[in-house]
Amino acid sequence: MKAFYVLFAVALGVSTSCLGAETKECDTTGADEGSVTVLELHSPEQLDAFEGCTILNGHIIIQSDYDGDFSLNGVTTVNGNISTVDEGAEYLNLFEMQDLENIDHLHLLGISGDVNIPNLESLGDLELVQTSTSGNADLTALAEADNLSVRGSWTSTKFSSLKTVTVQCQFCGSQTCEIYGDERKFPYITVNLPSLEKADKLEVAGAVKRFVLCPWTKNIYSHS
Ligand SMILES: *[C@@H]1O[C@H](CO)[C@@H](O)[C@H](O)[C@H]1NC(C)=O
Ligand SMILES: *[C@@H]1O[C@H](CO)[C@@H](O)[C@H](O)[C@H]1NC(C)=O
Repeated sequence: MKAFYVLFAVALGVSTSCLGAETKECDTTGADEGSVTVLELHSPEQLDAFEGCTILNGHIIIQSDYDGDFSLNGVTTVNGNISTVDEGAEYLNLFEMQDLENIDHLHLLGISGDVNIPNLESLGDLELVQTSTSGNADLTALAEADNLSVRGSWTSTKFSSLKTVTVQCQFCGSQTCEIYGDERKFPYITVNLPSLEKADKLEVAGAVKRFVLCPWTKNIYSHS
């Protein structure tokens, strides 16, 4: 029996390393038998199931007890959402998907760490809500979003490629912007949108550390 397990482990090791450079499609349910298309994520260890995956099908919902970093590199496409529960995931530290290019929607609420998705090119809704006193959001490659909302103390934001937001582009560093957690923390936000050409609505509120907008964004105001 023991010999059988050893042989099986060796065979698995060889086949995954051979597939390393190719596309590998995985379902979020693969890590959680029985659920439909939603994986409820309670701990970073559950992400080990997606080692080597390049395409993820289904949703991931980060639970409020999730403690640690969310690091899922190698995945380029998510056919689904990655979200925290509505009440937020305050122990979620770094959120990192270095290779991600496309995802349906991303909602990270009540988090306390940096967000690093430097290769994401487009998505539907993007919601980033910070509860700590400082945070960095790197979305350097993002060119297009439907509805974007960045709230809380994001002291550094990189949206250098963002051209089009079809619905609303909101940056809020005010205590009145539904910021989760300790209300005494004073939010302080950086708004850096040097490439923005079109947004149906642009809203910036609260204490702004730095505000950069390209000079030809007058289109933004033509609708309001
Ligand atoms: C995915 O996100 C969209 C838009 O933000 C939302 O309407 C939908 O309910 C979400 N689905 C799940 C399963 O979280
Ligand atoms: C856009 O996002 C904000 C913040 O997440 C939300 O309150 C609003 O309802 C959204 N609008 C649309 C049209 O989806």
